[in-house]
Amino acid sequence: MPSIFGADIGNIQNDVKPLIELGIEILHVDMMDGSFVPNIAFGPTQVADLKKILPFQFDVHMMVENPEKFIPQLVDAGVEYISIHQEATAHLLRGIQLIKKLGAKAGVVLNPGTPIETINMVLDEIDYVLIMTVNPGLGGQALYAPIYKKIAALKEMIGDRPIDIQVDGGVNNENIKACAEAGANWFVVGSYMFSGAAADRLATLENALK
Ligand code: DX5
Ligand code: ZN
Repeated sequence: MPSIFGADIGNIQNDVKPLIELGIEILHVDMMDGSFVPNIAFGPTQVADLKKILPFQFDVHMMVENPEKFIPQLVDAGVEYISIHQEATAHLLRGIQLIKKLGAKAGVVLNPGTPIETINMVLDEIDYVLIMTVNPGLGGQALYAPIYKKIAALKEMIGDRPIDIQVDGGVNNENIKACAEAGANWFVVGSYMFSGAAADRLATLENALK
């Protein structure tokens, strides 16, 4: 799944055109508040504007403190998937329940240094877990290799629950297979996806997964 943060926003219609032609259905959209992460990107108004002009389902990754505040605006904008960081709220369960009550799919995100045990209590409430494979806030960083063990441990903790495991940060053709072997089944790709022809990038990633 492409991350819009890796695209050229000034040229967004052109950047996403090949993705539409390739049948990509979901776009990953990063929100950053300049406080939870050292960068600012896409407030709810911009997400809503983008949703109007782009023909994708949106997976909004909220790198935002107290994310509950903005969840209703995102759902009103038509966002289908919303993930909130475990570290960004004292009320994780409340945030998840709000997302679900409003009718979107709910995900929880863990920074690289956050143990998986911190979400054990909410596993029966969520649709997906996003494992950050870099420190969040910037595109183009290298994947933190010790993370594979964490993905595998999460997969085991999830057991037979219908929960997807998403990875985000530094994912490319060289490490996507290792992420999949560890248990991930949903791959966010930013700079790698947009640093070449989308069709080639997608084909290379799919080949790497074989
Ligand atoms: C990083 C963001 C990512 C980012 C990934 O904090 O959450 O979604 O776009 O970009 P790459 O694939 O370049 O690491
Ligand atoms: Zn992201």
